[in-house]
This record gives sequence, structure tokens and C-alpha cells, in this order.
Amino acid sequence: MQSNPKFIGIDTQYPTADGKRLTRLHLDGAASPLASAKALETICKLLPHYSNTHSYVHSSAQVSTKALEWAHQTVLKFVGADEKKYASVFSGAGTTAAINRVARGLHHARPERNIVLVSSMEHHANDLPHRQFGNQVIYLPLEGQGATSGTIDLSQLTQLCQQHADEINYIAVSSVSNVSGISNPIKTICQIAHKYDILVLIDAAQSVAHGPTELDHLNADFLVFSGHKVYTPMAPGVLIAKRKLLKNLSGQDLGGGSVSRVSFYDFELSDDETTREESGTPNIVGAIALAAVLHELMHYSLDGLSGLNAIKAKENALMLDLIDGLESINELTIYGDPELPRTGALAINHSQIDHGLLAAILNDYFAIAVRNECFCAHPYVSSLLKEELWQLDLSNIAEEQQESFINRKRGMVRVSLSLYNTPSDVIRLVDAIKRISSELDYYTQHYQADNDGVYSHVEYQLEWQKELGLDV
Ligand SMILES: Cc1ncc(COP(=O)(O)O)c(C=O)c1O
Repeated sequence: MQSNPKFIGIDTQYPTADGKRLTRLHLDGAASPLASAKALETICKLLPHYSNTHSYVHSSAQVSTKALEWAHQTVLKFVGADEKKYASVFSGAGTTAAINRVARGLHHARPERNIVLVSSMEHHANDLPHRQFGNQVIYLPLEGQGATSGTIDLSQLTQLCQQHADEINYIAVSSVSNVSGISNPIKTICQIAHKYDILVLIDAAQSVAHGPTELDHLNADFLVFSGHKVYTPMAPGVLIAKRKLLKNLSGQDLGGGSVSRVSFYDFELSDDETTREESGTPNIVGAIALAAVLHELMHYSLDGLSGLNAIKAKENALMLDLIDGLESINELTIYGDPELPRTGALAINHSQIDHGLLAAILNDYFAIAVRNECFCAHPYVSSLLKEELWQLDLSNIAEEQQESFINRKRGMVRVSLSLYNTPSDVIRLVDAIKRISSELDYYTQHYQADNDGVYSHVEYQLEWQKELGLDV
């Protein structure tokens, strides 16, 4: 019987600006959640056997090679992908590398189709790679307007697909937004796209850790995520692709490991879809650690539920607590359509203080870690903030200070929930924001902002070297 995951850093403490020492509350899992103890344990067990892969001769090479094969199978199982239909590839440091690989490959594979549809809520990683290769990117509008906008507008998507049927290469869309936590209707998007021979790339960086993926059912062509978003900081990125498509994607990195035959005149790539994609020495240790963590998550159990369904039920309940708690604070705005459920994260602003100041006070006085600014999703954040920014009253602000004033307002605070968070964490956050709201002057008087809107405490500064025991 396997026990539920434990996380490294759950008890980490930091000094606060008012002279206390508090256990840090990590509400920044959408950037990177804490590491699973299973990842570290697996690495420690693996390292005494450590050896390069691509060999079955000596015992250590057998361990590495077979464990890496198991890691490939495990990621497929984790996302509900049939091994006959889909292949998994470990690539680079995260989702970014995998998306660049698909963008490059699809451009080479279908050069006659140079339009890419990209949703208007994407992380830059699922936007900028598609702007290359002479592509014309058309941004998919969202339902609703501005601060309360929702998911991709399916009727506009259908219209665009009909209008440009033979020109659209693929649609790039995230399953869950890294800003608002809003989910897109992936299965329907795939059904619409496939009618027109348009392929679909899913950025699942923000969804895979929070519930079952069921890729077979979604029938997406490509799905990508980062190992570090699933409690394994040292892991590679993951690309899962339909085998028949992966084989047609030229433009991969070339080198050893991916080829079956090489002469001075030509070479042949391996027949195996995974092998041909993984030139060079893969991140063996990270991939195996990731698979061990995914295996552990698939065996998670709670209240009679198991695996990712149990995780989803637990996190959904916590998200509802979080929304209730934040809605009880009049000064807060929660961005995105209020009717839509949220997965993993949501973004807020406080009417009395800038996002940078709220995030800094939460950290410095309450040891609560949240993220602020635009979360590498500038166009989406700007569109959620559009009315607010337009309505800013600049009449009393000197012209030379107006830009930095606007910079301080351009952003949000993101609160994200992970498997290690509990109802008492939500209470701690809500109480802290209430306290800040009722004693604004006490907290804000110690801060100054730079031109980019970054606030810092005038006296308090964390000594990071001391935290790491480094003499530098
Ligand atoms: C939705 C989404 N896509 C892509 C990325 C980029 O991931 P990585 O930095 O691991 O490549 C992130 C990271 O925050 C993300 O949230």
C-alpha cells in the first residue's frame, strides 16, 4: 500500500519584516510547486546505478535504459494516452522546448498552411514560437469582455476554421490558463479542428497536476507539459504526440542516439518515434524521477477516490474555499468569468494597493508566497485589465511619472493551489489580506517602488546566502 506524497520545503521558515520567523506558505505552485519527496528519493536510489542509456550490456546501463523506457510508458499512462497511438518524448527544460519543437516541425511538415490559431489567453511559451517561420497568427477571441472574459469563443473558432480551412496548420491552446485558472473545452476544439484537417497542440502545463487528462478521449494531436509543474523540479519537458504525426515532423535536433545508420554520405533516423526525437543524452535522472512522481500521483487516494480523480476532488473543494474567502473581501477583484470554475490558480487585485505591494507585504510580514505581475501572459493580462487601465485617473500625476504609475497597475497577484495546500492555508491567506486591508498605513509605509512597479521594503531584506549556508 503506497502512502500519499510528501513534499520538500513544507516546513521551510523565513524571518519576517516585523522580527518573527514564520513557516512559509507556498501559494505559487502555478510557477513551480514544491518538490515531491519521491523525486528526491528516486534520484538517491538511481544515482548509485547511474549510467548512460542506449545499452543493455552492463548492469547499470540496463537499469538506466529500462527505467527510462518505463518513464516513457509512465508519462503516456499518466495522461491517458494509448501507447499504440501516441509516443512520448522528453525535451529540454520544460513546456517551452516542447512547443518550439512542435512549431518548427509543423512548419516543415505542412508549409502550405501558414496560419496558426492561438488562443488569447496563452503563456508566451505557447504564443511566441508560433509567430516564427512566416506564420500568420490569428488570436482566438474569448467569450465575454475584459475583466470577466471566459473560455475560447467556439462559434468564432468554427467560423475561422471554415473561412481559412486550407490555410490553417494548427491550433495552439492551453487546457488551463496560468493566469485565471479557466479551462478551455479541449475535446470540442479538437472535434471542430479535425473536421478541417487542422491539428491541435495542447499546452497542458497548468492542468496535468490537477486532474486526469484523458488524452485518448480528447484526441488532441500534441500535448506538452513541464515536469517541474508536477512536483519534479529537475525533470525535463514532455511532448506527447500522435505517432503518425511525429514521424512527419522534420526539424528535430540531430546527433547520436536518434539514428539507425550513418555513413559519410547520408544517415537514417531510427524507426522508433521516441528514439528518433531524442538525440544526445537525455535528462535520464530527471525523467525517471518524474515518472516515479507521476506513478505516485496515479496511486493517490482520498475519501474513497483514487489517482488524479481524488486529487481533482480535493483541489476543487479547496478552490471553492479560496474563492469564497477572497469574495468576502470587498476590496478584491477576481479576474475572469465569475461563473466559471478555476483549476489550480486565480488572479486578483486589491482596490487600495498595487499588485506588487500586496505580494511584497504578504511575503515580508506573513511569509505567504504568491506571484505577481503578468505571469508571462502579457496580452491576456492586459486584456483582463483593459477597462481598469483606461479608467486610471492621471490628472494629479506629473507627466514624467505617468508611465511608472501605469506600470505599477499593470499586473495582478496570482494565488495558486497545489496538492500540499490545506483549508487552513486558505484561511491564513484570507486573514492576512483582511489584516492588510484594515491596517493599510502600518504595512504600506515601509515600502518604495521602482519605475517598473517593483516594491521593496526599506529595511527588511532576506539574506539568501544565509538561507543556503553559502559563504559568498
Ligand atoms: C501554461 C504554461 N505554458 C507554458 C509554460 C512554460 O513552462 P516552462 O517554463 O516549464 O517551459 C508555463 C509556465 O509557467 C505555463 O504556465
